[in-house]
Amino acid sequence: MKKLAEFLEEEVKAAFEKAGYDGSYAKVTLSNRPDLCEYQCNGAMALAKTYRKAPIMIANDVTAHLKESHVLKSVEAVNPGFINMVVNEAFLAEFAQAMKNEEKLGVDETKEKKKVILDFGGANVAKPLHVGHLRSAVIGESLKRIIRFKGHDVIGDVHLGDWGYQMGLVITELGKRKPDLPYFDENFEGEYPQEAPFTIGDLEEIYPYASGYAKEHEDYKAEALNATFELQNGRRGYRALWRHIMNVSVSDLKKNYGNLNVTFDLWKGEADAQPYIPDMVEMMKEKGFAHIDQGALVVDVKEESDTKEIPPCMILKSDGAALYDTTDLATLVEREELYKPDEVIYVVDKRQELHFVQVFRCAKKTGIVPENTKLTFIGFGTMNGKDGKPFKTREGGVMRLADLIQGINDEMLTKITENRTVAPEEAEETAKLVGLAALKYGDLSNQAAKDYIFDLDKFASFEGNTGPYILYTIVRIKSILNKYKENGGVVETAKIRVPDGEAEKALMLEAAKFNGVFDTVVEELAPHKICAYVYDLANTFNRFYHETRILGEEDEDRKSGFIALLSLVKEILETSIDLLGFEAPERM
Ligand code: ARG
Repeated sequence: MKKLAEFLEEEVKAAFEKAGYDGSYAKVTLSNRPDLCEYQCNGAMALAKTYRKAPIMIANDVTAHLKESHVLKSVEAVNPGFINMVVNEAFLAEFAQAMKNEEKLGVDETKEKKKVILDFGGANVAKPLHVGHLRSAVIGESLKRIIRFKGHDVIGDVHLGDWGYQMGLVITELGKRKPDLPYFDENFEGEYPQEAPFTIGDLEEIYPYASGYAKEHEDYKAEALNATFELQNGRRGYRALWRHIMNVSVSDLKKNYGNLNVTFDLWKGEADAQPYIPDMVEMMKEKGFAHIDQGALVVDVKEESDTKEIPPCMILKSDGAALYDTTDLATLVEREELYKPDEVIYVVDKRQELHFVQVFRCAKKTGIVPENTKLTFIGFGTMNGKDGKPFKTREGGVMRLADLIQGINDEMLTKITENRTVAPEEAEETAKLVGLAALKYGDLSNQAAKDYIFDLDKFASFEGNTGPYILYTIVRIKSILNKYKENGGVVETAKIRVPDGEAEKALMLEAAKFNGVFDTVVEELAPHKICAYVYDLANTFNRFYHETRILGEEDEDRKSGFIALLSLVKEILETSIDLLGFEAPERM
């Protein structure tokens, strides 16, 4: 469905042309002087030179042809040459009704459907999820929903860190604690038994212990490195243990991500890419892309236009071991073979940007990825504590994600039950929903690339630019609609009416922006722009609500018109928060 600004633009363009001017300058934008008008066009200023005329004269010529337009209520040429427009109310109401009739509220699905792989989450197996993984999960999940809403095919891949040193550490420590397990037998042949010889609780304790111990004891570290090497080279008993670690850890990760309302289509990881490495390396050598530099195998990825030094991509260390670059390249080989994506998007800490520049260049240069496949890096900033330093626990340790979420839910529960009586079960459910909204909105309302301060008091507030405020607004609308129904009204058939109040029109105008805002959001992959929009919409609604007797309105037509508008606003808000990855409770 066409956007509101596009309707205006068509009219203005026609007027430019009727007046004898180049219509391609008829760009219409939201007014930056909302006190004067709703939309504006600055094209007359740009054309002054070409036509050797004062911009105000051009603007006057154009507005003369707009006086009759059914989309405009009024239009005015203003010095030095602005064309200021106010939207016609009947047209606006028609537009809003059309939105309401559409399944996606006026958003058109793409005509060029792409297959997109979204690499996000990036959890490391056997290590607990920490808040650093939170941003990738929250931003990635939202992007997944946004791109899908546009009609693209999105495959979300968690891309587990499941092949590194942490595995060697856990295996080594298990060997100390349970040396009699058959897996440590060098000649282990058997299929591994069903039962894992440890629980998630054990793993959570073993990893930090082993990691700390290895830092202080060289020989232990050497053992762990050797175990990693042997695992990667196929020692059977270690492979079996690795499977156990994977199973135990992944089911725990699924639970944790589930609590965040985050899901993945693929639970693949670095280990899955390993079989692709030998042929890839062979190809790079054979075609002359790779060369030996100080014993290591590397591919140069410098480009002439570089303003800073881009070091070569590291393919193999001098001992023949694969690296992070290698694994990400091999993963691209695998993705190409299995899925042939049109685009791969990575949602990763922005401190890894250089790594991705190298990998992307190398993948293109060596032909792993076809020229027209898009590789996109969405780097996010750090979540800091109130002291401006990376978020920590009170004791100064790394905060585990599960603990963070628990803390938020507890805080929310207190808030919700403070001055009200709510059944305990409902209170808990609500606390979870509101807590998640606080957490996700607090994160997503910041531009991804920026660092932000995690401030629970602020995020959990029911006022201001917060998730709970948005939920509260939705709940308020729901409750009005429910009361209307209880009194015998039918929400579904209520029709939008021509607004006659200022706050009512403002609300309708704000609602009408949805498809325009959404398209900017998908194009720029910028969920924070959804947040900014829902906040404006919620504020505009609340102003209308405070100024208007809605259910108390005596004129039934007027009342049902209000209801139709409210139900549109509710749908927009609910769709938007769904795109952000959370939902509203029935009451709060
Ligand atoms: N596991 C990595 C980490 O914790 C993130 C993985 C990001 N994705 C990728 N394809 N490299 O830092």
